[in-house]
Amino acid sequence: MTRTRTAMLAALTLVAGASGTALAAHSASAGAAAPACTVDYKVQNDWGSGFTAAVTVTNNGAATSAWSLGWTYAGSQKVTNGWNAKVSQSGAAVTAANESYNGTLSTGGSASFGFQATYSGTNAVPAAFTLNGVTCNVDGGGPTDPTDPTDPTDPPETGDRVDNPYEGAKVYVNPEWSAKAAAEPGGARVANQPTGVWLDRIAAINGVNGGMGLRDHLDEALAQKGSGELAVQLVIYNLPGRDCAALASNGELGPTEIDKYKTQYIDPIAAILADPKYAGLRIVTTVEIDSLPNLVTNVSGRPTATPNCDVMKANGNYQKGVGYALNKLGDIGNVYNYVDAGHHGWLGWDDNFGASADMFKTAATTEGATVGDVHGFIVNTANYSALKEDHFKITDSVNGTSVRQSKWVDWNRYTDELSYAQAMRDKLVSIGFDQSLGMLIDTSRNGWGGTARPTGPGATTTVDTYVNGGRYDRRIHLGNWCNQSGAGLGERPQAGPAAGIDAYVWMKPPGESDGASKEIENDEGKGFDRMCDPTYQGNARNGNSPSGALPDAPVSGHWFSAQFQELMKNAYPPLS
Ligand code: GLC
Repeated sequence: MTRTRTAMLAALTLVAGASGTALAAHSASAGAAAPACTVDYKVQNDWGSGFTAAVTVTNNGAATSAWSLGWTYAGSQKVTNGWNAKVSQSGAAVTAANESYNGTLSTGGSASFGFQATYSGTNAVPAAFTLNGVTCNVDGGGPTDPTDPTDPTDPPETGDRVDNPYEGAKVYVNPEWSAKAAAEPGGARVANQPTGVWLDRIAAINGVNGGMGLRDHLDEALAQKGSGELAVQLVIYNLPGRDCAALASNGELGPTEIDKYKTQYIDPIAAILADPKYAGLRIVTTVEIDSLPNLVTNVSGRPTATPNCDVMKANGNYQKGVGYALNKLGDIGNVYNYVDAGHHGWLGWDDNFGASADMFKTAATTEGATVGDVHGFIVNTANYSALKEDHFKITDSVNGTSVRQSKWVDWNRYTDELSYAQAMRDKLVSIGFDQSLGMLIDTSRNGWGGTARPTGPGATTTVDTYVNGGRYDRRIHLGNWCNQSGAGLGERPQAGPAAGIDAYVWMKPPGESDGASKEIENDEGKGFDRMCDPTYQGNARNGNSPSGALPDAPVSGHWFSAQFQELMKNAYPPLS
């Protein structure tokens, strides 16, 4: 992937509202009035004598129908042309004014534009911006930004977020998961693999039932880090009305509890992550699994609609929660936000793909967030879709019938997660996300090895024999998601495995259940979803097919030894 430089700026001064009172940035961040605007200015390509830049401005003041963003260069930079704004320069002063089609900026709304410029000498990022004459602060600054050169309390860190936080870094091994894996017969073969730390309820911040809390994990991460680099993977997973299309992972917060989400969940997490003690860690946050796409695919007008997803669409609390999380966590210079982008067996259809990308953008430009707060996206989290199907391609046909018309593919555009992740990345960049966006693919349980793994293409009798005979993914239906029988551990976690992919990760800790196979009382808000019941014959979301779930599963998140054993048995690549 193209290496780009993210310019992280110090917030120098800002003006609160229209009062004209200049405040020191350090006293103005947490809790104080929002600055009138925030600016994310990124140099995307720099070839020594010229560069391109992407700028996103977010309006935190009153709505406006026209905008003009100003800055002054300290160096010799000269803008030659711009796009999505009229960019002009007089001396060192640059003005970017809206085009006729993007002049409206609501409160919280943002606009993005780009430009090309020449320079010689240094290409420093501008120190200050004004929106319609009012000084902005700059996203990424603040009292806890370890890159803030004006803050004497910051540790001696040099800087910018790296392009790929996994590159050249160890990844945190969660001692709690590791111990459970190691206690299983044969588990020592994988117990030292890094897995995600799920903050799946407010209590998880301090630790559930005497277990490790967030600070315990980060302290342990520092110990594992030593003098090298280390990435620690956190899953932000506690939205109001969580898991609206299913029951197994319903959470503790009701559909309207957005304030509690902000103040009792995100704010305390952000406060811990911003502790300068942790500034040397690369903190990967995967944000809200299985949330936003539900507002596209499981709402009225779709055969798969659920009343709960209609409620969440109407109240906007998924977008608000995600936007709030991205904004707060994105303010911390060593946090890397990756938003959940479903998987190909959910969003790979034309009706779902672009609309979901747009939904991600909506959320990423809500509640003060900007696209600059998004480092990348993660796909296939806790799902089972194969990484790469080698024995059939979406462009194949059998006797003149396209693979897309097979029962398995059913008009999807993609056959696997790698092609889906790369296409989704391109789509997201095309609608305004950063060109350096990196994708993560959860390969914890999509190995599909063992004796049932096909060794070549299926028979070309019909398109269905061809696809079904060749596919690695042995699920009964692509829509099945709970404790899938026959699944195996997938590719081991690794950095930079393919173009546009920051890493293969095990975000879902293998061995933790997706949901109970029968009703089990619990105090976590978890329901009983019949997709986890092996006797269930299905619904519209899985083509009315059997669930394919393993029997005797515990509540979601709880240890499921039989599944762990099966995952090891069917691992691909196999375990040695
Ligand atoms: C499920 C559970 C959650 C758990 C996670 C990881 O989503 O609902 O509690 O932490 O899986 O296993």
